[in-house]
Amino acid sequence: MKKSVLFFGALLIIVLGYYFLNNKKDNSQEQVAQEKAQVTEEKVINVGVLQLLSHPALDSIYKGMVEELARQGYEDGKNIRIDLQNAQGEQSNLALMSEKLVSEKNDILVGITTPATLSLANATKDIPIIMAGITYPVEAGLIASEEKPGNNITGVSDRTPIKQQLELMKEIIPNLKKIGLLYTSSEDNSIKQIEEAKKYAAELGLEVKLASIANSNDIQQVTESLASEVQAIFVPIDNTIASAMATVVKVTDKFKIGVFPSADTMVADGGVLGLGVDQYQIGVETAKVIVDVINGKKPADTPIVLANEGVIYLNEAKAQELGIEIPATIKEKAQIVK
Ligand code: TRP
Repeated sequence: MKKSVLFFGALLIIVLGYYFLNNKKDNSQEQVAQEKAQVTEEKVINVGVLQLLSHPALDSIYKGMVEELARQGYEDGKNIRIDLQNAQGEQSNLALMSEKLVSEKNDILVGITTPATLSLANATKDIPIIMAGITYPVEAGLIASEEKPGNNITGVSDRTPIKQQLELMKEIIPNLKKIGLLYTSSEDNSIKQIEEAKKYAAELGLEVKLASIANSNDIQQVTESLASEVQAIFVPIDNTIASAMATVVKVTDKFKIGVFPSADTMVADGGVLGLGVDQYQIGVETAKVIVDVINGKKPADTPIVLANEGVIYLNEAKAQELGIEIPATIKEKAQIVK
């Protein structure tokens, strides 16, 4: 009898001891998990984005950026918080929104368009600024050089090969002699692209007619007088024109001439053909630079990425509608956007 009490007593102690030990292990595991959660919570990265206005190209850039960040493990609302400010095309909004994004202590800022990035650059010399599709960052005074920006700014340029675009126009339109160059006089980006286009047109023996708009109010009238004088119109990467493609195309349709832009979205919006950049891809490249900077890369020594893959975008329906025959050699290489 005594022996069996001892035996059961010992067994009880062993069982209880085992139970307590295990329980303790569970507790400590739970604690570790909790601590981990706290750490990741602390590590939420705040990204402030400033976009000049909405047009299909810029909206695609933003979408590409957010989706690529998610693919790289940075999901908005989880371990990253993205604050998008849209200035609706107003310069005064840009300044206010830049101040706001800086004072709210974002870890990284993103500028979509040259004016937006210039405004951010004015507001901070410390917080890293990532450029999302800036055509001429050096000429705009944003960075010292594309190889070595030298300050808190780096990112992606959407520059396109303008000379090849003009060559394509020459190949497509029989007896092309006179082209129109339509752009916005207040966009530094466009002025620079038009200077290049003028130079290349001369090299290719094309006569040019320049037509500039001050803002979207005069686009219809300016396009009309230009369209009556030329055989085709080249438009640069220009924010005002990108947001008013419908107006431009309505006029050029009437005159039965084609518009040749440099962005896939502008081709989709009624252009005929463009040698340009996939806007969504600019966003993807921007996200990659953001991740590099999160991982410790310094903008000052991070070279600019050129998003330009020189893809030919063709709006086949528009070409047909205007009776423009696209040579098979070009069609083969083209990506159809509509
Ligand atoms: N590159 C333009 C700028 O620097 C912004 C931009 C990006 C854009 N993609 C575009 C403008 C497509 C017109 C069309 O401001």
